[in-house]
Amino acid sequence: MTDSTAPGGTFAAEAFKVPENTGKNTRIIAACNKSGGSVKTTSVTALAAEAARLKLKVLVIDADDQRDASHILGYDDPDQDENLLTLWDVVDGLGTLEEAIVPARMGEGGEPIPNLWLVPASRELDNFDLNMAGEQAREMWLMKHIQFVRGRFDVVFIDCPGDLKLIVTGVLLCTDEVMACVKSQEKEIRALTELESKIASIREDFKYLSNLPELRWIVVGEGVTDKGQGKVYQQAEDQLRAAYGEMVLKPTVRRSVRVPGAYSAQIPLTLFAPKEDASLEYKEIAKSMGLFKKAA
Ligand SMILES: Nc1ncnc2c1ncn2[C@@H]1O[C@H](COP(=O)(O)OP(=O)(O)O)[C@@H](O)[C@H]1O
Ligand SMILES: [Mg+2]
Repeated sequence: MTDSTAPGGTFAAEAFKVPENTGKNTRIIAACNKSGGSVKTTSVTALAAEAARLKLKVLVIDADDQRDASHILGYDDPDQDENLLTLWDVVDGLGTLEEAIVPARMGEGGEPIPNLWLVPASRELDNFDLNMAGEQAREMWLMKHIQFVRGRFDVVFIDCPGDLKLIVTGVLLCTDEVMACVKSQEKEIRALTELESKIASIREDFKYLSNLPELRWIVVGEGVTDKGQGKVYQQAEDQLRAAYGEMVLKPTVRRSVRVPGAYSAQIPLTLFAPKEDASLEYKEIAKSMGLFKKAA
């Protein structure tokens, strides 16, 4: 990361440097669900931006070859930018995780967002399982690198692809809090049981490790509020709350046209439209998850 990425010369550049290791507790939260289009990236970027606004030091690791979190945090095509290292480059040995961290930006080429950093994704992650086929202990692919973030950030979000393959296995092995993201539809809620089985099998196969993943949070997004259409959604949501209780974060995030608008602008929803209902809902969820700086 060079000083030229920050406006206002050396003093301002300090503010966007990767935080020092102060030995603080670092929460690692992975957004997962087997299905795509289940509001993972929208939720990660909105909650990360809100936590950063509330003065936490926040890192988003984009582990999805679709690169949507990178896009929303101001980097549309990391593979084309020769100044950037991507998560795949780190796995491939071209650099360290530290070197891959960049400040999140308000839009492509925009101002850095205070307290928010990104490890961009690469489209190469699409070939991950194939590329890693011959590697020893390949499930540990992220574990080798994640140590760097501990003690520096308050919270690290990992935005996962919509499957449960090798990338996600490696992410789960570094995660304590799994945040499942779902739309309130039966199909998506059924995908949750597959995520639960995956977590259970990891807990069994790796029981000798000290950190094991746990399904901790469920974000329900893009809920429909109009009466006609809303009934089926409401039933699905009620079932979800009956089955998972407190894990299901309140409130449900409502459908909003500002979400695609924020995506096009490459700005997290909560910064793009802070007064929008969906943003206020994400802010409340951030509070329930304890994503704010606590008084010393
Ligand atoms: N609250 C919302 N209102 C309207 N559209 C939404 C909302 N949340 C997500 N979306 C849209 O749904 C699609 C999937 O969301 P996304 O967060 O990208 O899911 P995932 O990362 O799980 O694939 C995107 O097109 C996104 O813009
Ligand atoms: Mg996504």
